[in-house]
Amino acid sequence: MSANDSLDLVIRNADVVTASDRFRCDIGVRDGKIVTLGHGLPQGVREIDAHGLLALPGGVDGHCHLDQPMPEGMRMADDFFTGTRAAVCGGTTTVIPFAAQEKGGSLKAAVADYHRRAEGRAVIDYAFHLIVADPTPAVLADELPALIRKGYTSFKVYMTYDDLKLSDREMLSVLDVARENNALVMVHAENADCISWLTDKLVGEGRIAPRFHGIARPAAVEREATHRAITFAELVDVPILIVHVSGKEAIEQIRWAQGRGLQILAETCPQYLYLTAEDMGLEGDHGYEGAKCVCSPPPRDPENQAAVWRALTNGVFSVFSSDHAPFNYDDPQGKKLGGTAQPFDHIPNGVPGIETRLPLLFDGVARGKLSLHQFVELTSYRPAKVYGLYPRKGTIAVGADADIVLWDPSRKVRIANEALHHAVDYTPYEGMEVTGWPVHCLSRGELLVEDGKYLEPEAGRGRFLEAGAPELS
Ligand code: URP
Ligand code: ZN
Ligand code: ZN
Repeated sequence: MSANDSLDLVIRNADVVTASDRFRCDIGVRDGKIVTLGHGLPQGVREIDAHGLLALPGGVDGHCHLDQPMPEGMRMADDFFTGTRAAVCGGTTTVIPFAAQEKGGSLKAAVADYHRRAEGRAVIDYAFHLIVADPTPAVLADELPALIRKGYTSFKVYMTYDDLKLSDREMLSVLDVARENNALVMVHAENADCISWLTDKLVGEGRIAPRFHGIARPAAVEREATHRAITFAELVDVPILIVHVSGKEAIEQIRWAQGRGLQILAETCPQYLYLTAEDMGLEGDHGYEGAKCVCSPPPRDPENQAAVWRALTNGVFSVFSSDHAPFNYDDPQGKKLGGTAQPFDHIPNGVPGIETRLPLLFDGVARGKLSLHQFVELTSYRPAKVYGLYPRKGTIAVGADADIVLWDPSRKVRIANEALHHAVDYTPYEGMEVTGWPVHCLSRGELLVEDGKYLEPEAGRGRFLEAGAPELS
């Protein structure tokens, strides 16, 4: 190796785990890329001994919300700085949040605004999904195809929420644009009319505490919308990805569709493995703390949790994301929007979890519920493929970005919000003990976390990633 070939970094004795392989080697890094994998590599400018640790590709969080523009009076606690700081402290080195169109607004303008929010703030690399809330003829014919060509190859549509939901006809039109332009549509599948009818009924009866959020959004409304979204995908002949699947009823629909040979992909999140409806409040509970766990679809029960764990290992789910939705609890711009006497339907939806995503799933590896390879596949490899970032992200291989997490598989950590790096004032996982935690995290060869300590890299070092075409197989 000549002086020009010298290595910026050598990670020695790495126990490398990818979605398909496990092997021992040294990892050589130059200019932010993995340039060699081998034994006895020459001295690097910097050396890290990975003995006793797993070397995993950095996590790719394919669904998180950071600094998204909110309706008047509401605010997300995390911007691109605090959100990406928390992500990397939890072993995630790429995030894909959402540039969201407002009804009546331009999609292109939403993307430009979102770039301004990210620039100078992100500490790890990021791509954008789009949210299509108003598929006007101009959006469908011009804006969306132009954005897909520029590297925004996935977009989310909502079947619920008044300010975001699309009609069935609009859903079909958006899916058609995805098919024509080789993009991937992510679907939030819950039946809006059923939810608003149930909500009005509950509120009319004075049943307004946070726990009624779960009763207003039963599994049946998720099941019905999941089935309807699958039907649209079949009619248009295009793949879709159903996001944040909460339990067995939606899983049954997805399995049924997959069994028919339809390309229906699915995502689940930590809240459906670790939270239940009881976390939003027990019967007779008139308190407000349950607002901390209000998200949509809502957490269900232990039987549904078990179904979600199973579906992580039998191929139903392709990706495991955080759906990090950072609203403070003790904040009139967060979960207490409008005060604690307001009915449950005023509570901002979503739970924080960008830093705890990987440790919570890895605990399943430690408990024998899924394999190490499945862990890497769900949290890094498949999100990178599906969202057009592979092979730059999602693997440890020559030519890939040196986004590497050195993971201690036996470290026990009791989750405590005061030790997390997001700007949210709570975690729904407070007090839970997990086995496995990231020790060192590298983004493009730069050490951002060392021995669990955040090294305060320059804000804005994170780069925007133009996504390629989705790779679904
Ligand atoms: O409750 C949730 N999931 N909040 C975040 C927004 C979304 O729908 O993903
Ligand atoms: Zn959603
Ligand atoms: Zn979300």
